Amino acid sequence: MGVHETIDHENRERAKFREMKQGTAEDWAIIGGEYRAFAKGLPDRVLDHLKLLDGDFGGFPVDRLEHSLQTATRAHRDGRDEQYVLMALLHDIGDTLGSYNHPEVAASIIKPFVSEQVHWICQNHGAFQGYYYFHFLGMDQNARDKFMGHPHYEACREFCEKYDQSAFDPDYDSEPLEFFEPMVRRVMEKPLASMYAKAIAEE
Ligand SMILES: [Fe+2]
Ligand SMILES: [Fe+2]
Repeated sequence: MGVHETIDHENRERAKFREMKQGTAEDWAIIGGEYRAFAKGLPDRVLDHLKLLDGDFGGFPVDRLEHSLQTATRAHRDGRDEQYVLMALLHDIGDTLGSYNHPEVAASIIKPFVSEQVHWICQNHGAFQGYYYFHFLGMDQNARDKFMGHPHYEACREFCEKYDQSAFDPDYDSEPLEFFEPMVRRVMEKPLASMYAKAIAEE
């Protein structure tokens, strides 16, 4: 069960200010405490949101959840580390709210928890994935070429070639979402970097 489901919001203590500039140390002790609990629920919220892709085919041979599980399963079975597999699992999670820029949504969600390279792959996979279909839609198949010479070009090309463009097989035995849950919780347990790092530090 998600942390957000266990919090009794009605009866929790609340800050007293009407405008932030009236805020006091007591107010912010309350909010800081709530934030720490809320932040811990992030893996649950992400997993819940990923489930929105269930049954969403968009004309593809598999739905977006199966595509996500298959991308992650292929990366995992190929020996990728947990940060990478998390990225593979979540790379299309932005489809629902970022229908015109989905790679950036996923990249923002994983950014505090992964290496710069894994973040870059996620953020730019759209252009690299386009190599396999942009020309069918009147777009430039080689849109990825604008990144030529970038230190992460090859890693992103490889992600799309090995795990993303290949993850539309209805007959592939993908692991279920439950298989990845402990991994999601481990990788998202603590940010490697965040502008709010001090606020979530345990006293
Ligand atoms: Fe994508
Ligand atoms: Fe994808």
